[in-house]
Amino acid sequence: MLTREQLLASLSEIQDPAFGLGLVELNFIRDMMIKESQVSVTVLLSSEEEEYKSGLQQLITKRFEQQGASSVHVRFRVLSDYERSEAQRKQESVPAEDTSRPEMTNQQAASTAARSVLDPESGVSFIAVASGKGGVGKSTVTVNLAVALARLGKKVGLVDADIYGFSVPDMMGIEERPQLVDNRIIPVERFGVKVISMGFFVEENTPVIWRGPMLGKMLRNFFNEVEWGELDYLLLDLPPGTGDVALDVHQMIPQSKEIIVTTPHATAAFVAARAGAMAIHTDHQILGIVENMSYYACSACGQKDYVFGRGGGAKLAEELHAPLLAQIPLGVPDNHVAEHDYSPSVYKAESETGKIYLEVAERISVQLRKGSAS
Ligand SMILES: Nc1ncnc2c1ncn2[C@@H]1O[C@H](COP(=O)(O)OP(=O)(O)OP(=O)(O)O)[C@@H](O)[C@H]1O
Ligand SMILES: [Mg+2]
Repeated sequence: MLTREQLLASLSEIQDPAFGLGLVELNFIRDMMIKESQVSVTVLLSSEEEEYKSGLQQLITKRFEQQGASSVHVRFRVLSDYERSEAQRKQESVPAEDTSRPEMTNQQAASTAARSVLDPESGVSFIAVASGKGGVGKSTVTVNLAVALARLGKKVGLVDADIYGFSVPDMMGIEERPQLVDNRIIPVERFGVKVISMGFFVEENTPVIWRGPMLGKMLRNFFNEVEWGELDYLLLDLPPGTGDVALDVHQMIPQSKEIIVTTPHATAAFVAARAGAMAIHTDHQILGIVENMSYYACSACGQKDYVFGRGGGAKLAEELHAPLLAQIPLGVPDNHVAEHDYSPSVYKAESETGKIYLEVAERISVQLRKGSAS
């Protein structure tokens, strides 16, 4: 079956002559309709020159036919002033060396096209980690689950999809920045997990002020412009709540599964149920619930104190008809700044909490293997 991502990927190396950037990157390919194997698109033009138009028409038709389209209809529309200024802004935000990128060979283009992790054929299992409200430990759970899956030998990527409130680089103790190779972003690897975050692309801790549409584009870039290589799992740390960004992500990755994080308090579980309802609404299967900060275990006697209440996770699991995957105790990792791979939020494999995360990772990998086999 033809997909939008696949068709867009097949155009990834076609550049607009005026802006020197890809048509896809510039968001010049619009209104794509796929009906059975018939495809129609609108292409925004920076130049009305006939020769350019007919060349483009032929190239796009050919690319789509190579992907399996039986008929291709290409419409053209000249850029509006607003669209032109948006494209200019984009051009200005790209480092100069990018525009001198040499023409790709067809073979290179084809391999680029095959690289989008969003393509359902890529075989990557997406796991989005969501919560109803902030501060319940969503990022902590995402990071530790990613590391646990990598400890089990899986190939794991992590997208910090919390564009405004990115926290993953700091939590994992990442200080380096991604490299740009052949115009593709190479994610930073830490504890065997490939990581990408908005935090890599902003100046020292300045707040990010994006307008709505840019957010969606940024996220798309995280999937399409990043060289993920081969992956078994791609985890997404969603922004808290059920706002636009969360909805965008849900819609961008229809094949994603979800984990919902809550604290044990009844009201937290009630709010988290909204995130669950959103997952159900967008047809995302809920893999399960992680109850975080469940209890405090006395280090001397081992007794559990349920300081934040009890039963929130179980109640939510029942409500969403999903398993309660784990109850994670209170307590930050016993890590020290002096350690060579210091990270504030990653629990060691042999710690109590580290073991719980390994169990969750094992359970999920079994669950997803079953899912793909059936
Ligand atoms: N089990 C735990 N025990 C103790 N502290 C924890 C635990 N889990 C998370 N924390 C701490 O709670 C705070 C919030 O956690 P985290 O940032 O993971 O939550 P979040 O849901 O991603 O928040 P946000 O909504 O801001 O993105 C952090 O300081 C984190 O270190
Ligand atoms: Mg977070």
